[in-house]
Amino acid sequence: MQSENEAKGPHQAVAEVQPASTGFVILAAIFAAVGGLLFGYDTAAISGAVIFIKQQFSLSTFPEELVVGMVLVGAATAALGGGRLSDWLGRRATLMLTSVIFIIGALICAFSGSFQILLVGRTIVGLGIGLASTTVPVYISEVSPPQARGWQVSLFQLAITIGILVAYVVDYAFAGSGGWRWMLGLAAVPGLILGLGMIYLPESPRWLAKHGQAEKALKILGRIRGGSNVDAEFQEIQGTLSHDEEHGKWSELLRPAVRPALIVGIGLAVFQQITGINTVIYYAPTILQSAGISSASGAILATAGIGVVNVVMTLVSMWLIDRMGRRPLLLIGTAGIIVSLAVLGFAFLRPGGSLARVAVVTLMVYVASFAISLGPIFWLLIAEIYPLKIRGMAEGTAAASNWAANLLVSLTFLSLVQGLGPTRTFWLYALFGVGAWIFSYYLVPETKGRTLEQIERSFSGKVVAPARDAIQSA
Ligand code: BGC
Repeated sequence: MQSENEAKGPHQAVAEVQPASTGFVILAAIFAAVGGLLFGYDTAAISGAVIFIKQQFSLSTFPEELVVGMVLVGAATAALGGGRLSDWLGRRATLMLTSVIFIIGALICAFSGSFQILLVGRTIVGLGIGLASTTVPVYISEVSPPQARGWQVSLFQLAITIGILVAYVVDYAFAGSGGWRWMLGLAAVPGLILGLGMIYLPESPRWLAKHGQAEKALKILGRIRGGSNVDAEFQEIQGTLSHDEEHGKWSELLRPAVRPALIVGIGLAVFQQITGINTVIYYAPTILQSAGISSASGAILATAGIGVVNVVMTLVSMWLIDRMGRRPLLLIGTAGIIVSLAVLGFAFLRPGGSLARVAVVTLMVYVASFAISLGPIFWLLIAEIYPLKIRGMAEGTAAASNWAANLLVSLTFLSLVQGLGPTRTFWLYALFGVGAWIFSYYLVPETKGRTLEQIERSFSGKVVAPARDAIQSA
């Protein structure tokens, strides 16, 4: 007689048999997420450090922009190549390499004797961030059970937000002594933790299965599922591999079956940045000062408040993401982004009076909206929606687009404010927010509770179909 699960077929059965998650998977996810901590720390710490670096090396504007921007250039480059590397070398080995790169980069920055060496250090740190951003979400999504994958992959975004907050605090602590070397060098510590953690953590069973190490994959899968029956899950992973040849090629990304997922990944990557998040993360004190908060310490304190809202709302989103699903959160949060940017733009029409207060509140609403939507959901979806065979490569393409868009926005923000004025600049970002909402509504699929293999199949040959069945649930 057929068991109930057999009657349902392996795919439906998998989601039901697995325990929500085991302690071991959570540990693996937490250690991998340290890569996110470095991402957040290293992108934000420079905002405080650059003031002193500028003085020490007597830098004019362009070299100053290079110190900030080379991290993004390094990250975009490594994200593009890093996905391929993690498909080839394995997720675990790539994360170990990432840790070594972070440590070397942070130490070069801390001990740099010249501006040129500092730039080399910053670029190396950027390579580490790019590798982390392609490998961490994929690693976590491949070891997590479907019902808990949302919050576990979002640990990456949580770590980014904590990294940003820690950077604000460290910058503040060393500001008095001008200790920029400490600000940049301290990143070596979490770099070391990431490497040590990965020594003890297992390779992704999905990657092992793809590389012909079925026995090992099954063993690890059993271990990370806490000893429960993993036959159905394993069979499902094997099922997606049997008709695939060994190596994914770049041309695979343009296959009709992959194209819709590629569009979703790159689209979300660009929208995540062009709605202006990093103008707030990198320039919040500047925005607040121009809104009328005159003291630097007041502006920095309000910025720290924004950092706290970012962390807390990411936690809220992690709590909701496997319950409500990705789409409702994405649509609600993006709507919040549009409204807060529009209000911020209006507020700047009337300088003085209540502008400072309105600016602080709207920036907080804006960051809260980002933290429940485009922040975590972009990194989650790009780790979920691509076929196993080309997952690293495709995720890397989306991550690289994100870094390139980040660089573009960071380099143009101040000129836009000078040229268009703050009101029109924030309205422009609000307009991009409208684009993000429409894009998400029509093209972004719901992936809640489905196995990676079910998601892979649902994309084959369809452009909007995966989104349609989820629209009602939004
Ligand atoms: C984005 C970063 C941003 C951070 C803010 C991430 O999802 O990719 O660019 O600085 O969120 O929390």
